[in-house]
Amino acid sequence: MVTRVGHIALHVADLDAAVDFQQQVIGMVETERVGNVSYLTCNDRHHELILVEDATSRGYEHLAVEVADGAALDGAARRLEAAGGRMLGGIYDGEPGIDRALKVQSPNGHVYKLFCGMETVDAPEPGDRPTHFEHLSTKVWNFRSEERFLREGLGFRFSDRMGFLASWWHCDEDHHGIAITRAPRPELSHYAYAWSDFASLGRVADRVLAARNKKCIWGPSRHGPGNNQFLYFHDEDGAMIECCADLAQMQRDHYQPRNWSMHPGTINQWGGPPPLKFLLTGFPIVEPTPGRPSWAIAPANAVAAV
Ligand SMILES: [Fe+2]
Repeated sequence: MVTRVGHIALHVADLDAAVDFQQQVIGMVETERVGNVSYLTCNDRHHELILVEDATSRGYEHLAVEVADGAALDGAARRLEAAGGRMLGGIYDGEPGIDRALKVQSPNGHVYKLFCGMETVDAPEPGDRPTHFEHLSTKVWNFRSEERFLREGLGFRFSDRMGFLASWWHCDEDHHGIAITRAPRPELSHYAYAWSDFASLGRVADRVLAARNKKCIWGPSRHGPGNNQFLYFHDEDGAMIECCADLAQMQRDHYQPRNWSMHPGTINQWGGPPPLKFLLTGFPIVEPTPGRPSWAIAPANAVAAV
């Protein structure tokens, strides 16, 4: 059902500071700002990232995944509930840049927004920026229920597994659009941008240091599952960003899903085990609310959440 991973909506303490970070370090471009909400992109899609200023609730509001059209949304609720999801209101419109949307909570508490009709904008001037928003990685305790929800509810397909610690799932050519890792409580592990080549990751690391005087958390190196080169660091609010290059393509690379050993070499082909800072970073989930987010401006002809 899901055709691609869309974006993430993050609650941030200082909107201007968070936008500056995304612009200076990542190369994102702001396409629209409405009140305390900024929409940013790195291509011709209206947004690949939403930042919401909120001094009281740090966390993510939703993980957005795209479906083909309104018909797909119309038939989604029954399928999502049958797969263990809890609906958060009905189909609504009124969010800038997209047509309609529907929110659901996964069995482990993660909040997904299914949406259709992403608007296009003039692509930014050529520059040092990602090609697209690539994947989401969540922490969950109950793997069986979350995997069933991803597979039967959202329509993701199996890519790889590392024992009982992690699994990777795809909805298009990219090896993974969603990854899950085992952890005591549900949080976001990281969100990821795709870059065109390995050298890009070095330039990003230079900017993390030059623009914020910060060190990266892990990398650059290469993962086993997905075979992608990676670099991890914190954004302005402490959520973890992964920058990826060379992610395996399922059909093009004739990728064979497999069960990898639970060995550090699985997730770091070039070096040692992941640092504690990587393992312990988790960005919380903002208390879910049904329907259209309160910060999204509803036009006069909007369809109310039901
Ligand atoms: Fe990742």
